[in-house]
Order: sequence, then C-alpha cells, then structure tokens
Amino acid sequence: MTELAYLGAAVLFILGLKQMGSPRTARRGNTLAAIGMFVATLTVLISLTKPSWTVIVAGLVVGSTIGAVLALRVQMTEMPELVAAFNGFGGISSMLVALVALLQTRALWDNETGVTVMLSIVIGAVTFTGSFVAYGKLKGLISGRPISLPGGKVLNATIATAIVILIVVGVTGDATWPYWGAVGLAAVIGVLGVLPIGGADMPVVISLLNSLSGVAASTAGFVIGNDALIIGGALVGAAGMILTLQMGKAMNRTLANVLFSGFGAISSAGVGDGEEKPVNRATPDDVAIALAYAQSVLIVPGYGLAVAQAQHVTKKLATLLEDKGIDVGYAIHPVAGRMPGHMNVLLAEADVPYDQLYDLDQSNPMFQQTDVVLIVGANDVVNPSARDDSTSPIYGMPILEVDRAQTVVVVKRSLSPGFAGIDNPLFYMDSTMMLFSDAKAALENVIKSLEDL
Ligand code: TAP
Repeated sequence: MTELAYLGAAVLFILGLKQMGSPRTARRGNTLAAIGMFVATLTVLISLTKPSWTVIVAGLVVGSTIGAVLALRVQMTEMPELVAAFNGFGGISSMLVALVALLQTRALWDNETGVTVMLSIVIGAVTFTGSFVAYGKLKGLISGRPISLPGGKVLNATIATAIVILIVVGVTGDATWPYWGAVGLAAVIGVLGVLPIGGADMPVVISLLNSLSGVAASTAGFVIGNDALIIGGALVGAAGMILTLQMGKAMNRTLANVLFSGFGAISSAGVGDGEEKPVNRATPDDVAIALAYAQSVLIVPGYGLAVAQAQHVTKKLATLLEDKGIDVGYAIHPVAGRMPGHMNVLLAEADVPYDQLYDLDQSNPMFQQTDVVLIVGANDVVNPSARDDSTSPIYGMPILEVDRAQTVVVVKRSLSPGFAGIDNPLFYMDSTMMLFSDAKAALENVIKSLEDL
C-alpha cells in the first residue's frame, strides 16, 4: 500500500508538472502537485513505527502557518527571494536527513550508501548556503554587485578538489570526520560560488539551486529508501535544470557565463551620454492620440511594469482600446522581468485573456504590421543592439523586434538603462515616442486623455 501511495503521488507530481507548462492549466497543475505532496507526506506519517505526534503536529502547524503567511504576503517582484529561501530550506533538509543517517547507521553502510549520503550532504549544504546568499543579494542585504575574492576561482577549485578527496576517504573508510569536513567545505563553496555572481543573474542561479535541491532530495530519498522523495527530487532536479538552460538560451548566455563571468560588474558609464542625444518626448495626450488612431496595438511589458504594479491599469487601457475596435495583444519576452514567466503571471493576475499573449516567435513577425507598440517598463528585451551591434554585451540575445513597428511608445521614468546596464538606441529613433513617467501613473494619464478625446 505504501509503495502504491508513493506511485500515486509520483503520478500526480508528473501530471502537475505537465500542466504547469501552460498558463491556462498552471493553477490546476499546482493543485495536483500539492495533492501529490499531501499523499506522500500522509503516507510517510501513516507508515511511521514510533511516531512522536507532538513534534509532528507542532512542525506541521508552525511550517504551514509560516508558509501560508509568506505566500499570502509576498509581492510578485519578491517571488525570486521566496523561491531562494524555499530552495535553501530544501537543501538543508536533505543535508539533515543524511546527517541523521550518518549519526545513526554509519557502521552498517556499504559503499553505495556512503556515496548517496555524501552527495546529499554536499549538494544540500551548497544549496543551503548558496540559496541564502542569493536571497541576501535579492533582498539587498548583500551587495547585488559581483563580489570576487582575489584568486577566488583557484580557491574554489581547491575546495572542490578537497571535497572530492573527502568523499573518496569517507566512502572507502569507516571514519565519520570526512563527512563533517565535506559539510563544512560544501557550505563554504556555496557562499564563494554565489558571491561573484551579479544580483540580476540571481534568477538563473536560483533555478540552478532549485535543481540542486531536487538532486539533494533525491539522493536523500536513496539514503532513507523513500521512493516518493527519489522521484519528486529527480523531477525537481530535471525541471530546474531545463529552466536554467532555457533562461540562458533566452539571454544568449551559457551557464558558465552566468556563473563565472561576473555579469553586472560592467559599469553603466557611457549610458549617461544618451541624455545628450535628442529623443521625442511625448505627453499622455500624444500617446492617447497615437493609440486612438491605431488599428493594431501590441503591448510589451517589462520589469518596470512589475515594479510599478501597472498590470491592472494596462489591462484597463487595453479594454478601452478594444472597445474602440482596436486589435490588442501582448508580446512577452521569455526573460522580461526578473523571473521566468513573470509577465505572464502578472497579466494573468489582471485577467488578461491567455489568447492575447504572444511569445517571442509569434510576436516578431507581427511587429511590421503593428501600428503602435506600447512598451511598458521594458528595456533590454527590446534593445536592437542585441541584433545589430556585435560589440554589445547583449549581442545575440533574442529580442522583441519592436523597432520594425510604425510607431513605438516607450513608457519609463528616464533614459536609465535596464539590468544589462547599457544604452538603448531604440529610444532615439524617429519612430519612437518617450513618455517619461512611472508606468502606472503614465497609463492612468493616457486613459484619462483617451476618455477625453
Ligand atoms: P530591464 O531591461 O531591466 O528594464 C526595465 C526598465 O524598467 C528600466 O530601464 C527602468 O527604466 C524601467 N522602470 C523601472 N521602474 C519603473 C517604473 N516604476 N515605471 C516605469 N518604468 C520603470 O527589464 P526587461 O526589459 O524586462 O528585461 C529584463 C532583464 O532582466 C533582461 O536583461 C534579462 O536578461 C534580465 N534577466 C531576466 C531574468 C528572467 S527569467 N526574467 C533572469 C535573469 C536576468 P527607468 O529607471 O528609466 O524607469
């Protein structure tokens, strides 16, 4: 019965993950996976031989309360931090499970058990400390700039080699000290590995750590012989790695570039030069007129829309345009915003219909036939340098080719750069109108102007 229940849980995890592949079914997917986790947890509880119910119930109450409060209070822009913390806790849980096994059953182990315990504690410890450094960077508790120690790469390589030696000594001998040594060194390497990575690359790092937390859980599943943990962990490991690679692809950067290049250290010097160049400044009235006379409008949301919480007013504007018979859609870049699917989630929150959302491949052929592209707080994902300037740091990153549209309206507060820290030639094009304002206030004013027309 236990094995059957675990199998049922695993099936629910897989179906849930499958449904998370589309915004239409993602909520149901999440519920299915949560039911799977409930079944797995219940099965563990029922099969315990000597349960200590006070501790279990207390743990459930405390954990569920903290989880529910966090989930209800978290802002969409803070989601990467929350995920980082969850990964960190996942990592330390796997590490602790393996350490309990070390304390209780070391004498009975064969080599395979030794390897799985070592992997659980090493990967778990790296995930734990790495995730909390990522959390600190995103929260602003640690500088978001890449922090590199002199000789940091050599130091990391030396520590990594020492960990491998400890694994071999620990697995082939009887002593427990190599395990404790590996825990300490893995914790250090988690910190030293994440510190040199720029804050804005944290979502990729978090996705990678998420994958590692899955691998740690899976190896911990082998240690305690729990099939649901093995399968669930493997799914998280694989899904996290696929997401990591997809994010890298959408930024045209390899994982090694994200982890070792210190991206974000580039100064934004030279960006200020942009202020000297002339731009077409627009008022909300100008934008309202351009929109009112358009037949087709594509809205491009970016990080600034999320910061300004402008999703609802964006939807309101879109509805107003649709009422005037204008065709409205949304062009979504895969890494617009600060986490995977960020824009889709925000727009879903504002009840934007899914069939109006176009991904990169769908949108790019549409821009040429679009009268007005309305860019709300996006910058790098619409920067033509990525296509045209081989010296640009983002050269080769797939972009939304908004510059092919008849008129481009950019809503942002200034000419400041986005995450990549570079100037954007789009802002100085003849066909571009710049509406300098906070995204929410700007769109509210455009709506007012449209209503007065
Ligand atoms: P960015 O290029 O970062 O640009 C966002 C723009 O929003 C800024 O230039 C800023 O200009 C503007 N802004 C900020 N607050 C605003 C407000 N309240 N109202 C109006 N505008 C505001 O954003 P993007 O185009 O969405 O691109 C995302 C970037 O993040 C990419 O470089 C991507 O590679 C990177 N990244 C994304 C991810 C994922 S998975 N999404 C992961 C890692 C890295 P002002 O200051 O002038 O207003």
